[in-house]
Parts: sequence; structure tokens; C-alpha cells
Amino acid sequence: MTEEKRFAPKVAVQLDPPKDDPISPEELAKCDGTDPSRPTLVAIKGVVFDVTRNAAYGAQGQYRVFAGKDPSRALACSSLKPENCVPEWHDLDDKEKKVLDEWFTFFSKRYNIVGKVEGATNT
Ligand code: HEM
Repeated sequence: MTEEKRFAPKVAVQLDPPKDDPISPEELAKCDGTDPSRPTLVAIKGVVFDVTRNAAYGAQGQYRVFAGKDPSRALACSSLKPENCVPEWHDLDDKEKKVLDEWFTFFSKRYNIVGKVEGATNT
């Protein structure tokens, strides 16, 4: 499989140009799928993706634990535990870091980048 096609969605997704707007951790936390007036957001390595269209991240969804957070560590470690849904990933092993980068690729092919977590040092 070519690098370009890896993790590509089955149905093509039209993405907007990525935004660089700062999003505070407090605002991110409010975008956890429970407030219909807000988008549902998930950040990876400080980069914020709008996952609103996927009910898996909504209030009843199987991946709701990730919503409103930067769960880089949990993604890297294939964990759904809330205590692992934190941004810190630098201390992980190379295999886990690779998994995290693959999730970044997966998200970047599906979801619009709407900003960066303000003060994020985990890029
Ligand atoms: C019993 C174990 C699990 C099953 C059966 C399962 C099943 C699935 C399925 C069917 C999908 C959809 C695949 C697709 O869209 O093509 C998916 C996506 C996903 N899974 Fe799991 N999963 C499991 C465990 C986990 C764990 C432990 C994590 C923690 C990192 C995880 C994170 C994700 C994420 C982030 C997505 C992408 C959702 C999206 O944005 O489309 N899964 N999973």
C-alpha cells in the first residue's frame, strides 16, 4: 500500500484548510460532545480536530472518553481509560509513538484541523 493511501477514508472527505487558532484547554473541555451549541473536538499532539460528524465521539459514543481532550497518550497506548486521556507522550516507547503518529495521520485524513491547544508543549 502506498503511503498516500494508508489510513485513507473509504469515502473521500473534503477538508478545509487547517486553522492555527489557539483553543484554550478550558474551551476544548467544553467541546466534549455534550453541548449541542459547540463542536465536538479531539486534539492529538496539541492539534485540534473537529470530530462533530462522528457520533462515536458524541455523548453516547464508544469513543466519548476522547472528546474535549488531547488524549495522545491513550491513543498511543491503545487505551480507553480516562486517566490515560492526557497529552503527555514523550516518555513512551518508539512503537507507541509510531501508533500515535498513525492516529494523527488517520485523523488528518478525516477531520478538519480547527486550531491548536493553547500552551501545548506536546507537539
Ligand atoms: C474491543 C476492542 C475494540 C473494537 C472492537 C474496536 C472497533 C473499532 C471499529 C469497528 C472502528 C471503526 C473503524 C473504521 O471507521 O473504519 C474503530 C475505530 C476507532 N477505534 Fe476502536 N475498537 C476497539 C478498541 C479501541 C481502543 C482500545 C482504542 C483506543 C485508542 C480505540 C480507538 C479507536 C479510534 C480512535 C477509532 C477511530 C474512530 C474514527 O474517528 O473514525 N479502539 N474501532
